[in-house]
Amino acid sequence: MKICCQNVDYEKDMQDLVNLFFDEEDCPFSIEHLEEKNGQSLKSTFLVGSGDERKKFEKNFVIPDKIDSLLEKSLIKRNFKNHLYEVLSSLTKKTLPWGSLTGVRPTKFARDLVDRGEIKPHLISETLVREYYVSQEKAKLVTQILQNQKSIIKNDKLVDLFLNIPICPTRCNYCSFISSELKTVADKVDKYLDCLIRELEEMKKVIAEKSYIVRNIYIGGGTPTVLTAQQLEKLLSHITYPVSEFTVECGRADTITKEKLNVLKKNGVTRISINPQTFCEATLKRIGRKSTNKEVFDAYMLAMEYDFVVNMDIIAGLTGERFATFKKTISTLLELYPQNITVHTLSVKNASQIRGEEIKFKNDITKMVEYAEKILVENGYKPYYMYRQKHQVGGLENVGFFRDDTVCRFNIDSMEDTSSVIALGAGAISKRVFSIENRIERQPNCKFIEDYISRIDEMIEKKIKFFL
Ligand SMILES: C[S@@+](CC[C@H](N)C(=O)[O-])C[C@H]1O[C@@H](n2cnc3c(N)ncnc32)[C@H](O)[C@@H]1O
Ligand code: SF4
Repeated sequence: MKICCQNVDYEKDMQDLVNLFFDEEDCPFSIEHLEEKNGQSLKSTFLVGSGDERKKFEKNFVIPDKIDSLLEKSLIKRNFKNHLYEVLSSLTKKTLPWGSLTGVRPTKFARDLVDRGEIKPHLISETLVREYYVSQEKAKLVTQILQNQKSIIKNDKLVDLFLNIPICPTRCNYCSFISSELKTVADKVDKYLDCLIRELEEMKKVIAEKSYIVRNIYIGGGTPTVLTAQQLEKLLSHITYPVSEFTVECGRADTITKEKLNVLKKNGVTRISINPQTFCEATLKRIGRKSTNKEVFDAYMLAMEYDFVVNMDIIAGLTGERFATFKKTISTLLELYPQNITVHTLSVKNASQIRGEEIKFKNDITKMVEYAEKILVENGYKPYYMYRQKHQVGGLENVGFFRDDTVCRFNIDSMEDTSSVIALGAGAISKRVFSIENRIERQPNCKFIEDYISRIDEMIEKKIKFFL
């Protein structure tokens, strides 16, 4: 059942919260929300119906005066969502790990509260728990991440460079990213790279003209190492910025060869991803990920010869996996001991081939994420960035961990909006951060390779204007 709000502006956020309470299944209640504003006083009323019964829940708030209209709207929304959380929690006797927070990045949300002077830094955890019903554990996670992000420098002249290779050897059934299977675009790859290089060369002129300083570089996807060594060499030879952090998200181990790693090393790459997702081979078959454990181990051993910082991605909640299987994946990961580990929680989006009803072991998934966060910390890893996506099982999160001094600043910049990003290629979304005005603008490229190639002049023209 859909929630019905007097002010439709709040309906989407409220519905997201309802969906989390009922795990994306149909809500058994009819819910109507009414509001009454009188000066700075605000009355929120929820009418909740079930069968012939209709219950009324009322709450009054006071909104501070002399604040700008956008902030006022966001405060009103927060109050209504908190009220809805209280109502649903009392009706269902359930709590959610992230309380009433939806549609925000929790670490950025907390940082903004501090920056706006709404709370003192040492009260972040307490405020999240008391005012937003966030669990103690997740509030602690936010505080730890913010501490581990202390190296962030905000400066509008610093930019990150992102290049997208939205192509994969084959498609994994859980994946919701826009990426084409190589066989469907094989005849377009060279043309795509030519366009990408053109876009890059034009943006290099803008970078020089505006005296931007490229701080971090990230080639993501898709699977960038689906490209041949020659194609990688051609692309990377155009990237000449002397940065201390340059990531290539290799991803699938079966695409990694010595020849390709030579090319990456020679061209200044410092960090790569080799992603197992799971070390259970039965699961790998089930999720249609054509890559084996042996390939991951071999690629990792090879990468160690080059001294790259290595990141490994895993996913909690892959179809059919129970806690014991996930636990084994974590222990194998700890044996390998990569510098970075990213723990994702499965997100079930329409763009993937799996559907909600296939996710059977929801309680196990909560246990998996709790276990991963605990055991990684016990083994010397620290959390340093985090994000939540819609439709993540159990309303959980994705967390990046590092050991020693190896945070990926690009990941922090992306999630905390601490740097502009010049993003190139199909599906890439550029971002311009105006830190003094506390404002962000975004500029997307076409999502699909074919459109990107045919509209490349337009993409370049828009991007130049956007960054000038
Ligand atoms: C943009 S993907 C690219 C990585 C690379 N192609 C690979 O598969 O190894 C980055 C990561 O997102 C995660 N991911 C993809 N689809 C997901 C989903 N539906 N739910 C949770 N995590 C997902 C995976 O862990 C993946 O490694
Ligand atoms: S998870 Fe990675 S390899 Fe699999 S389809 Fe998505 S982007 Fe491609």
